[in-house]
Amino acid sequence: MDFQLNRYQLMMQTMVRGFVQKEIIPIASITDETHEFPLETIRKMGKLGLMGIPIPEEYGGAGSDFLSYILAIEEIARGCASTAVILAVHTSVATFPILYFGTEEQKRNYLPKLASGEWLGAFALTETHAGSDAASLQTTAVRRGDYYILNGTKRFITNAGYADIYLVMASVDLAKGPHGVTSFLVEKDTPGLIVGKRQGKMGLNGSTTCEVIFENAMVPAENILGAEGQGFKVAMSMLDGGRIGIGAQALGIAQAALDEALAYSQNRVQFNQVIRNFQGVQFILADMATQIEASRLLVYQAASLRMAGLPYTKQASMAKMFASDTAVKVTTDAVQIFGGYGYCKEYKVERYMRDAKITQIYEGTNQIQRIVVAKHLGA
Ligand code: CAA
Repeated sequence: MDFQLNRYQLMMQTMVRGFVQKEIIPIASITDETHEFPLETIRKMGKLGLMGIPIPEEYGGAGSDFLSYILAIEEIARGCASTAVILAVHTSVATFPILYFGTEEQKRNYLPKLASGEWLGAFALTETHAGSDAASLQTTAVRRGDYYILNGTKRFITNAGYADIYLVMASVDLAKGPHGVTSFLVEKDTPGLIVGKRQGKMGLNGSTTCEVIFENAMVPAENILGAEGQGFKVAMSMLDGGRIGIGAQALGIAQAALDEALAYSQNRVQFNQVIRNFQGVQFILADMATQIEASRLLVYQAASLRMAGLPYTKQASMAKMFASDTAVKVTTDAVQIFGGYGYCKEYKVERYMRDAKITQIYEGTNQIQRIVVAKHLGA
């Protein structure tokens, strides 16, 4: 396995790092405080080609590889985890499904708008009683002539309210469980699509999380993505890639926390010396750095397998699980190194700690990741 990034990947990393320094870091704390969706930043990212990094050029994307996309998420998450998840959901579980499962017409119709950032995408799988048990969803889709009529309520939908298109999983036959689930491309102006109240959250305050309600929503039959009954596989296979993205997001948050903690430890004087001199602090920093490096290798490995066309479901779950557990541990340790200051809003580490927690939960809790890993052991 080659552990070096190639020239293009390094260029992507450098370009995004520069963008994050200039455009994202200066407003990240304000975004967290005001809960304002960073729409202007997303538009700027679109202009730079960041909203369609791994989408082929013929469909309006940048035509870069999957690892370049992962590097971009990692760098953006170092500055603002909310902005990173907006990009991750938009690309991994809204744009990619169209590329992989769409008809040529759907690709031509939607991908250029999504890849350019003119449109934002969202993914609507979760419901009040269907979280980890995604196949038990109750939203229905009934064919009526040239339309499907959708009814049901989706929960915790990232990008809702700002998304122009939702990939919605609904069942054409509830008795069939996962084999009744079907995916639909539902445009925001579809009659009967209602965006509900925005959820207040512990962190990730710049990203929106809302209910999305379908009340006899009329979706043209041509907007089915894949075939009837194929939707669960669409969702699961796209979540495999999505989980590498969440691993990268967690990695970026953890790296930012280490950077802050290291800098603080080199300046903070106690007992007449900087606290970095104390072995107690050094051990914490060394563990943080090691766990981050291990997470990075897992995340990049999963991305490399995907690019090579090899199975990567197990490695994606491992990467997501390990990187997110690391992010929670490392950000908590960063707060500890800052002491009382770490608990205060003036410093970034308390935001990192709040933002990190969700990475253990969304796109499949880490307990679900362990189920996926266990299923693939020995396979
Ligand atoms: N790729 C392709 N197909 C897959 C698959 C994968 N990774 N995983 C499962 N499938 C297929 C199976 O092969 C099976 O098909 P067949 O019956 O034809 O063989 C079918 O799907 C059902 O599979 P299972 O019996 O394994 O399904 P299950 O009901 O036991 O569920 C699960 C498995 C792993 C628990 C799954 O439900 C799961 O991943 N749950 C977590 C849900 C989740 O991640 N939600 C995230 C919400 S989105 C989000 O968080 C985005 C955001 O806002 C940031």
